[in-house]
Amino acid sequence: MTIPTPTSKGAEGLSGAPLPDLPDEATLGALASAFFRALPGAALPPADPVRAQVASAPELSLAQGGSRLAPAPVASDPVDPVGGAGAFVVPQAYAAALPQVAPPQVPAGVAEGLPLAVPGSPYYFIGEASPYLQSGAAPALPENRVVARSFGLPGEGELKALLAEIAAGRPLADAPAADPGGRFYFIDAAKVPAAEPGARAPFDVNAVRRDFPILQERVNGKPLVWFDNAATTHKPQAVIDRLAHFYAHENSNIHRGAHELAARATDAYEAARQKVQRFLGAGSADEIIFVRGATEAINLVAKTWGVQNIGEGDEIVVSLLEHHANIVPWQQLAAQVGAKIRVIPVDDNGQLKLDELQKLLNPRTRLVSVTQVSNALGTVTPIKQVIDMAHAAGARVLVDGAQSVSHMRVNVQALDADFFVFSGHKIFGPTGIGVVYGKAALLEQMPPWQGGGNMIADVTFERTLFQPAPNKFEAGTGNIADAVGLGAALDYVERIGLENIARYEHDLLVYATRGLSSIAGVRLIGTAADKASVASFVLAGYSTEEVGRALNEEGIAVRSGHHCAQPILRRFGVETTVRPSLAFYNTCEEIDRMLAVVRRLARGKGRVGA
Ligand code: ALA
Repeated sequence: MTIPTPTSKGAEGLSGAPLPDLPDEATLGALASAFFRALPGAALPPADPVRAQVASAPELSLAQGGSRLAPAPVASDPVDPVGGAGAFVVPQAYAAALPQVAPPQVPAGVAEGLPLAVPGSPYYFIGEASPYLQSGAAPALPENRVVARSFGLPGEGELKALLAEIAAGRPLADAPAADPGGRFYFIDAAKVPAAEPGARAPFDVNAVRRDFPILQERVNGKPLVWFDNAATTHKPQAVIDRLAHFYAHENSNIHRGAHELAARATDAYEAARQKVQRFLGAGSADEIIFVRGATEAINLVAKTWGVQNIGEGDEIVVSLLEHHANIVPWQQLAAQVGAKIRVIPVDDNGQLKLDELQKLLNPRTRLVSVTQVSNALGTVTPIKQVIDMAHAAGARVLVDGAQSVSHMRVNVQALDADFFVFSGHKIFGPTGIGVVYGKAALLEQMPPWQGGGNMIADVTFERTLFQPAPNKFEAGTGNIADAVGLGAALDYVERIGLENIARYEHDLLVYATRGLSSIAGVRLIGTAADKASVASFVLAGYSTEEVGRALNEEGIAVRSGHHCAQPILRRFGVETTVRPSLAFYNTCEEIDRMLAVVRRLARGKGRVGA
């Protein structure tokens, strides 16, 4: 189609209709400039209101938690060497004491009638026993196939028909056998949350998938199934376009006043900082520091606030769930200053033992550094309770949000987190960009950790005056484009809605977990009542590498290995697991493909290398 190009006032279009008056050259120039500064895609609504965080109360029992773990060489870790003074010994007694195959259990807190939840978080099985393994015997698989599509198209019609039958009191032909308590909202009309006024459009997984070009890839001749989202997520076209737009129209260093492109780049970078602020619910964009990722974020806090505030004999509490990135920087700091590392144990489902945390806290506790979601098990920790308990003991809290922010809404002020960190690439943004949130009062007191340009107010050979936060912590030229790309990723996630994401992923995780648990020889590692995204497992008779390879042959990407979280895997008596980790672009059909491979292996046919 040819589009007429009017050149003067009063020109006519092809249809003969008069075209609107044309602006003069200066106005056109200004419009063009504004156009190229504007982001591709629509403007975003502000962040949704705060949602209360999950809380749960685990059972009481103590293995070795609470005692200081003696400095000693750590077991070999080819990926994450962590030797040296201050490293703690992996609690071997855990592995020795645990059976190799633990039977599924209802969380002890449920059996004991302990409160499991605070209101306000309708997903992740709040107030329920773990639904994954309710009946012991796994149900027939197809029973909830409609579920994970219940917020998208197609599938909506099926759900409506199902609910109509339930509402009319008609018995369902294939009613799920394993849900006698009607715990799942999708099989109980009364539990289907009513749409709130102004609610977003239903989640359409097929539309979402079209936003991610890489999902069209084929691997080994099969359509790619990406179940390695805990390692990294894929990028929607909006993020890819935003990066291209930056390099095509805005690329510059961020010395705003120098020239037009510097102004565009600075504006884009600072707009991204504001998006992160809104996304996390922080009080000010000055509380948002851009770093390379969650690992660098934790190192920044350890090497600034940590060095300043933790001394000889002080104690740092981490949990057994932690990724190596939330262990090693604290070990290094402990070795440097003579502090101690103490570890919150977990129960047999993989949930933190809060009563043990209570015993660990004392006046020497300076910091509690805990993940919000375990990358290896998927456990959603009761982070609000952890924070409140730590604060009551006078300790500060760092929350590792690397695995949480893409699955649930976070509000750092509602949590009252002192520090909160996450990585951009795990929330559909670029690699090499991440975030430290720190309370303004803390950042103000903290020294810089790297020195250089972009972070100084004045330099003489005698002394240097630094900019206030966040610039104080961003020495040198940062990852400008990828910060802007992260802003676009957060925009994208907000457009879909974290509540929609949480709900859909909940259904997917139930489907995957119940499917896996129906296969003889599969042992799930991590069965906490509150979980997000991850369905770690081992399969009797196969190494995790063999299972990963068999899945890859079918185009299915999972991570098999120790997931940079060796202590928690050893707690369950294993060194490695197969870890499918889900995102909102995954489907039940993809899970079926994975289950078919695992079932084939379990039957002993098609054994890798046989
Ligand atoms: N932390 C990433 C994972 O869990 C790399 O796979």
